[in-house]
Amino acid sequence: MPSVVEVTERTLTETLEGLARFTGNGPGVTRIVYDAAWRDAHRWLRERAATLGLAATFDAAGNLYFHDPALAPGGDARTLFVGSHLDSVVHGGRYDGAYGAVSGMLIAAELRGAGKLPVVGFVTCEEEESRFRAHLMGARSMLGTAKAAELDQVVDAAGVSWRAALAEARAAGCAAPLGAGEQPFRPPFRPATMLELHIEQGPVLEREGGAIGIVEHIAGYRRLVARLRGEARHSGTTPMGERRDTLAASAEMILAAEAVATELGAPAVATAGNVRPGPGLFNVIPGECELWLEVRHPGAAALDAMALELGRRCRAIAARRGVEVTLDRASGEDPTPLSGALATEATKLAAEFAIAHRRMTSGAGHDAMEFARAGVPTLMVFVPSRGGISHSPEEFTAAPALYTGYRFTRELARRLAERGAA
Ligand code: GLV
Ligand code: MN
Ligand code: MN
Repeated sequence: MPSVVEVTERTLTETLEGLARFTGNGPGVTRIVYDAAWRDAHRWLRERAATLGLAATFDAAGNLYFHDPALAPGGDARTLFVGSHLDSVVHGGRYDGAYGAVSGMLIAAELRGAGKLPVVGFVTCEEEESRFRAHLMGARSMLGTAKAAELDQVVDAAGVSWRAALAEARAAGCAAPLGAGEQPFRPPFRPATMLELHIEQGPVLEREGGAIGIVEHIAGYRRLVARLRGEARHSGTTPMGERRDTLAASAEMILAAEAVATELGAPAVATAGNVRPGPGLFNVIPGECELWLEVRHPGAAALDAMALELGRRCRAIAARRGVEVTLDRASGEDPTPLSGALATEATKLAAEFAIAHRRMTSGAGHDAMEFARAGVPTLMVFVPSRGGISHSPEEFTAAPALYTGYRFTRELARRLAERGAA
């Protein structure tokens, strides 16, 4: 039976507002994979899906799939995936991930039974690396490529493994049992094409007055954890020339990261997101320090050059200050091209609808990277972010702009589904 669901601007914003209620303490949205807010959101989305005439299936990682009840999980059918992620950064916004996740569910409801290619709304369990540093574990488990060994290797800051966290999510009714063998995540659906609708998270569309960004490329990133070891000594009695201060060395490394990006110029960016000196007292020179460094660039060669140069500068700073340093690669993603054919199709659609649009590169990482690298024709659609702000409680996109992106993506999905895509 074809769908009778009709999604208005109000349906979209009310669903987004509903999802934003599921958050931990503090400003903005904090929904970390498998935590209480995440589990409540998971349950709420499943309930919403049922009211929209959709079945909700979850897999062994807690990824969600909203689909026609007539489409059985575990079958071999090619499907059109539309969605994004459920988790957020700590004190993030209401739109990053949530907008695409909610839109995927609503588009699956509107297009249920409408074409040759069934539409599956998807929600990946994790994208932000706010709990585990595990390279897009949601998308990789959704594609079946995450490995059994990772279940024990991947641990959060409190020492809880992915396996243990999943057992808890399973007990709460938010994840299915793991499969046996080396690849324990068995995708219940097979994506023939993937669309991800997202806020831009940067200033380009707003500055140019664009309504839609058609994303043809996603910048890559390299994340390094620097561990410094110097000497913890009395802060009042140790002369300035006799110190091996790891926090002062880290400060220089932070500035070195900035310099590496500014010297290369836009679109290169570099950030030190965390610094943890020990023992962390007024009267002790920090004898150890952990520093998190990240570089991003859309070009593969430039990205590798930045990571190499930053490593070289960090080692030189450490040597000059008599501090030992180890640099471990924490995670990273290569720059990733999305589907040129889908970008062309989306560009024609935007022109046909007279929507102000541009093709663009995403500076932020996304689930779409993993799908594209797995060979799934993949496209992202952006809508403007007010002030270009994201990963902040200040993240905002007005309802009409959200709805324009929704309708555009729905129409693109409709055409792909009707055609059976390719
Ligand atoms: C995801 O938001 C990322 O780009 O880190
Ligand atoms: Mn994000
Ligand atoms: Mn996101």
